[in-house]
Amino acid sequence: MIPGKFITLEGIDGAGKSTQLTWIVELLQRAGLQTVVTREPGGTALGEQLRALLLDKTMTMHAETETLLMFAARREHLDKVIIPALSQGQWVISDRFADASFAYQGGGRGLNVDKLSILEHWVQGELQPDLTLYFDVPVEVGMQRVSQIKNVDRFEKEQADFFQRVRAAYLDRARQFPDRIKIIDSSQSLAEVKAAVEQTLKDVLNHG
Ligand code: TYD
Repeated sequence: MIPGKFITLEGIDGAGKSTQLTWIVELLQRAGLQTVVTREPGGTALGEQLRALLLDKTMTMHAETETLLMFAARREHLDKVIIPALSQGQWVISDRFADASFAYQGGGRGLNVDKLSILEHWVQGELQPDLTLYFDVPVEVGMQRVSQIKNVDRFEKEQADFFQRVRAAYLDRARQFPDRIKIIDSSQSLAEVKAAVEQTLKDVLNHG
């Protein structure tokens, strides 16, 4: 049996990653793989409660509180969902993971990267996704898509400069880890995005 792999999807709000998620999972299942689909913050009973607090737009919190809650949810997620599934040979597809903390809390909120790295090592040890698909769109495109949503959350209500910093941090991280993080130009047509993702996944399926 092919051992389980850990795939994460990332992007600024409105990058379209959730749209891609469904057919990515279908593609992996068609390849005969057992999949577990999950998300961050969330994925566990406790994590989903933390998510509700983190996304509540009436809530205010210090950037470090926000970061600690993200990693607290992640600790639980790893323990209850990600690690057990991977050890059973399942493929875990997570809508966001730790790169989001580097992008949103590090880039967006300006939190010190050294502090994030300490939390990353504390919570994850050496565990990293096998593949991260980073759906890249210009901030105006993402914000335009988000503006269609009626009930925006605590992150979606941020301004363009926040998302510029988040995007820049994602791109920095992709440059830092080019083998793991693949940049998908998500401003292309849906068919083109799909083709790019499919190619990337095939490479992983064949060489991984
Ligand atoms: P998102 O994944 O965009 O879900 P939806 O499509 O339902 O809106 O929402 C999660 C939000 O949480 C998103 O704005 C990014 C933010 N986030 C962080 O700021 N840091 C993190 O570590 C994670 C996992 C998410």
